[in-house]
Amino acid sequence: LFAAETDFLKGVVAMDGLPAPDRVEVCFAGRSNVGKSSLINALTGRKGLARASNTPGRTQEINFFTTTNGPYLVDLPGYGYANAPVKVVEKWQRLLKSYLSGRQNLRRAFVLIDARHGVKTVDEDIMTLLDKSAVTFQAVLTKADKVKEKDREKVLAQVRKALSKHPAAFPELVLTSSDKGDGIETLRAIIATLD
Ligand code: GTP
Ligand code: MG
Repeated sequence: LFAAETDFLKGVVAMDGLPAPDRVEVCFAGRSNVGKSSLINALTGRKGLARASNTPGRTQEINFFTTTNGPYLVDLPGYGYANAPVKVVEKWQRLLKSYLSGRQNLRRAFVLIDARHGVKTVDEDIMTLLDKSAVTFQAVLTKADKVKEKDREKVLAQVRKALSKHPAAFPELVLTSSDKGDGIETLRAIIATLD
């Protein structure tokens, strides 16, 4: 997952546009603005690779990134809230759900949870969809730099409790900061084992 080894492949707006499932892939799902695109940039060490912004609804397609000899990294549109017309949002949500439930080479979904806010109802819904689709998922807490040390354990406990109800959840969670670099090496190592 080194910078020189990753590249943008394509943005997909419908299931028939997905690249051939000829290698393993991992995806990054989560509420709008949780930090999916920023995390991909941190993992690959390429700041502007995935477009990130403070406006929820920045990523509107399923974006595929290639890694040499590694899995596809897949940046998904956010769910839960977005600054876009209802009809447009509904279209992404349908695509997101089709992708998460019907992609045979999807080895693991990383479900990003804001470390300040914990698991919300919309996250639970996605986790339930992943259970039904038998897609192993792993929670990644984002924006760890924005949480005070004393509040951290409370959120971690809430997330662990939520995960315990989901058979497809991988028990280990990862606390990250794309800004400060916390947890990035850990997550790279996890992804490397999934090839
Ligand atoms: P959508 O594509 O809209 O669903 O959003 P996203 O989940 O891809 O979020 P994105 O990566 O665009 O980040 C949203 C905002 O959060 C941006 O302003 C980022 O700079 C900020 N952000 C992301 N990760 C971190 C982090 O680790 N720490 C801090 N402090 N801010 C972060
Ligand atoms: Mg994004």
